[in-house]
Amino acid sequence: MNKTELQSLAKKHGTPLVIIDHDQIRRNYNEFRRHLPKVQCYFAVKANAEPTIIRTLYQAGASFDVASLPEFMLVYENIKKLPAKARQDFIWDKIIYANPVKPKETLLELDKYKPLVTFDNLAELEKIKKYAPHAGVVVRLAVANTGSQCELSNKFGCSPGEAVDLILAAFKMGLIVEGISFHVGSQCTNFQNFVQALNMAAAVIKETQERGGHEIKIVDIGGGFPAPYNQHVKPFGELARVINAEIDRLFDKNIQIIAEPGRFLVASAATAIARITGKAIREGKRCYYIDDSVYHTYSGIIFDHCQYPLKAFKSGKKEVCAVFGQTCDGLDVISQSELLPNLEIEDLVYSEKIGAYSNASATFFNGFPPAKVIHVNA
Ligand SMILES: Cc1ncc(COP(=O)(O)O)c(C=O)c1O
Repeated sequence: MNKTELQSLAKKHGTPLVIIDHDQIRRNYNEFRRHLPKVQCYFAVKANAEPTIIRTLYQAGASFDVASLPEFMLVYENIKKLPAKARQDFIWDKIIYANPVKPKETLLELDKYKPLVTFDNLAELEKIKKYAPHAGVVVRLAVANTGSQCELSNKFGCSPGEAVDLILAAFKMGLIVEGISFHVGSQCTNFQNFVQALNMAAAVIKETQERGGHEIKIVDIGGGFPAPYNQHVKPFGELARVINAEIDRLFDKNIQIIAEPGRFLVASAATAIARITGKAIREGKRCYYIDDSVYHTYSGIIFDHCQYPLKAFKSGKKEVCAVFGQTCDGLDVISQSELLPNLEIEDLVYSEKIGAYSNASATFFNGFPPAKVIHVNA
């Protein structure tokens, strides 16, 4: 979107505002499909759970990774009117519940939909057997997250040896292990993480066949596909070439490859606009206060270790300044070193590529509600 369109939307809707461009979401989805044609694309809903985004991706033909019952129901909303058989086929073929640890109430509820669910330990497997015996299971491996913006293997995944033991234990319990999954860490710009993880998955498949005679049908390569936040992020096509080569080399062509991109599909589709509500000079540095915060649209600064450069609509000589959020918390610093021209109270600033893990984790802290979200080209 150009600056004039952004400004007129801010005028119409007020600030703080998040503008989500669905043409960009479709472009991202098509780019993913074009570069990884053999990989089924499950949108990781957690990255931005706006129902309109889910609808756009549903209409584009996407599959979905959900990690809580409310996320599952957001996807279900799109299929609830399908005939029973088509609905059940969609759940089986196009939804994965990819949170390796689930409360028993969730499992009980999920069981009637017979989805794919992930696990990475024996206690979880026993819970699945007891409360969701009709689910298909997918074992999650811990893989290198080296250099990724957000680490995930600190919390989830088992070693390759454990994985084979767990797979054999699951089959012994009468569960069907459909696949193996991993996550290389979010915003993974180190493509070797994918290479190592794919090799690890292939080794687990081979050992499972040798030790138990079981065939694994699915390899889930997780998320981590980097959004183009800056010029240091290599083009998606380069990563896709590496992944395609490894997939062709390592796996039988009957194995289905799936992926769970979150950030890649939505990050570049949103722009946040905020208004300057105060300004001061502190220790010689110009400081601006805006009507959004790290507890709101800019929450990714804290939770996602992400930075969103701020831009002004006004031109003029730029100088280094600090930008603070609207809450009373000293933690609420959007940037200590932003290059902006001299701005006045009521002027607008904006951040691009703020569609992933941003409004999704906004709170009502300090009495300020989350920014208004609007959808264009939806
Ligand atoms: C299991 C799982 N899959 C997919 C994702 C989406 O990852 P990304 O946004 O890096 O593509 C996450 C993110 O936390 C996740 O935990």
